[in-house]
Amino acid sequence: MVKREMRNMLVTGGCGFIGANFIHYILEEADFTGRIINVDKLTYAGNPDNLSGIEEKFKDRYVFVRADICDRETMEEIFDRYEVDSVCHFAAESHVDRSIVRPDSFIRTNVIGTFTLLEAARQRMERFRLFHHISTDEVYGTLGEDGFFTEETPYRPNSPYSASKAGSDHLVRAYHKTYGLPVTISNCSNNYGPYQFPEKLIPLIILSAVEGRPLPVYGDGRHIRDWLYVRDHCVAIWLIMKHGRTGETYNIGGNNEMQNIRVVELICDILDELRPRENGSYRDLITFVKDRPGHDRRYAIDASKIMSELRWRPEESFETGIRKTVEWYLDNQEWVRRVKSGEYLSWIKEHYGIDD
Ligand code: NAD
Ligand code: DAU
Repeated sequence: MVKREMRNMLVTGGCGFIGANFIHYILEEADFTGRIINVDKLTYAGNPDNLSGIEEKFKDRYVFVRADICDRETMEEIFDRYEVDSVCHFAAESHVDRSIVRPDSFIRTNVIGTFTLLEAARQRMERFRLFHHISTDEVYGTLGEDGFFTEETPYRPNSPYSASKAGSDHLVRAYHKTYGLPVTISNCSNNYGPYQFPEKLIPLIILSAVEGRPLPVYGDGRHIRDWLYVRDHCVAIWLIMKHGRTGETYNIGGNNEMQNIRVVELICDILDELRPRENGSYRDLITFVKDRPGHDRRYAIDASKIMSELRWRPEESFETGIRKTVEWYLDNQEWVRRVKSGEYLSWIKEHYGIDD
C-alpha cells in the first residue's frame, strides 16, 4: 500500500461545509502532524464561524489566507511562502440551482481556479507530493431505476455545475497523464451534517420547518440521492491522500439511497419528536413546487473500490446521521442566527474588506 507523508497541506475552500469539517477532522482527530494552509475567498458560502477556535487551538499548525484560487500570483506566492507539498482542493461554487441562474462564477472558480492550482503545483513538481481533487458523483449524469456509478462510468454532466466539475476533473487527470503530477480524485455523493449552508436541501428543510415556513419539494419529490454523513467523507479523503494509488479515482458513497420526499418526511418526524409543533405535524408544511430544470433523477454510488482497496467504511447510517444533524442545527442556534441574518458576511467585510 502507498504511504504518503505530507507536511504543508494547502486546503482550498476550508471555510465551506465539507472543507471546514475536513479541517476539524484532520487537526482534531486524524493522524496528520503537519500544517494546514487554508485558502478561501470567503464567498457567501465561506463562513469563518465554521472554524471558530481552530486558529487559537492550533497556532503553529494552522494558517488562514483569504485569497481567490484564480489569482495566479497569490497562489504561487502561497506555494512558496508555506512550502506547500500537497493540496486538498475543495474550493468550488457548489450549488446546482445557482449554477442554473448564473453559471459564470462556476466556470471561473471550478475550471480556471483548478487550472491555476494545477499550474502552481506543476511548477514545483520536485517537492510536490499530492494534488487531491474533491469532486462529485454529478459528473456521471443521471441513473435510471437500476445500476450504480462506478469509476468507469462515462461522464455525462447535466447542469452547469456538474459540467464545470467534470471539466476540472479532466484537467486534474490530464496533468497526471501529461506532466506526471501526482494526483488523486474522489467523486462523492450528497453530503449532509454540521456547517452546511442552508441553501442545500437538508439544512433548508430543518431551518424552514423550525420557523414554520413551507418545505419546498421539487417536482414529484421522487428524485433519489445517495446520502453520506460529512465526517465519513472526510475520513475517506484522508485515507485516499495517505494511501490512494497515484492517478486513481475513487468513488465515495454511503449506500443510502433515498427519495427526496422521504428525506423531508424523516426530518419532519424527528422534529415532531424533538420539538413538537403546537398545531399538527411538520409534515403539514410540505409543499410541492416547480421542478429544477434538467433535474437528475437518481444518483447511486458503487463504493466497492475504496472499500476493498483502502478498507473504508461509513460509520453513520442515514437514520443515525440525520438525527445527529437535526440535533446539531437545533443546538447551534448562534451559528444559525449569524448565517441567516448575514451577520457572518458583515464580520468578513469588517475584517477583510469587500471582495467582488
Ligand atoms: P461550499 O459551497 O459549502 O464551500 C465552498 C468553499 O469554497 C467556500 O468556503 C467558498 O468561500 C470557497 N470558494 C469558492 N470560490 C472560491 C475561490 N474562487 N477561491 C477560493 N475559495 C473559494 O461547498 P461544499 O459543499 O463544502 O463542497 C466542497 C467541495 O466538495 C466542492 O468541490 C464540491 O463540488 C464537492 N462536493 C460537494 C458535495 C456536497 O454534497 N456538498 C458532494 C460531493 C462533492
Ligand atoms: O451529489 C453531490 C452533489 O450534491 C454535490 O456535488 C453538490 O455540490 C451538492 O449541492 C449536492 O447537489 P444536489 O443538487 O443533489 O443537492 P441539493 O441539496 O441542492 O438538492 C438535493 C435534492 O433535493 C435534489 O434532488 C433537489 C432537491 N431539492 C433541493 C432544494 C434546495 C428540493 O426538492 N427542494 C429544495 O428546496
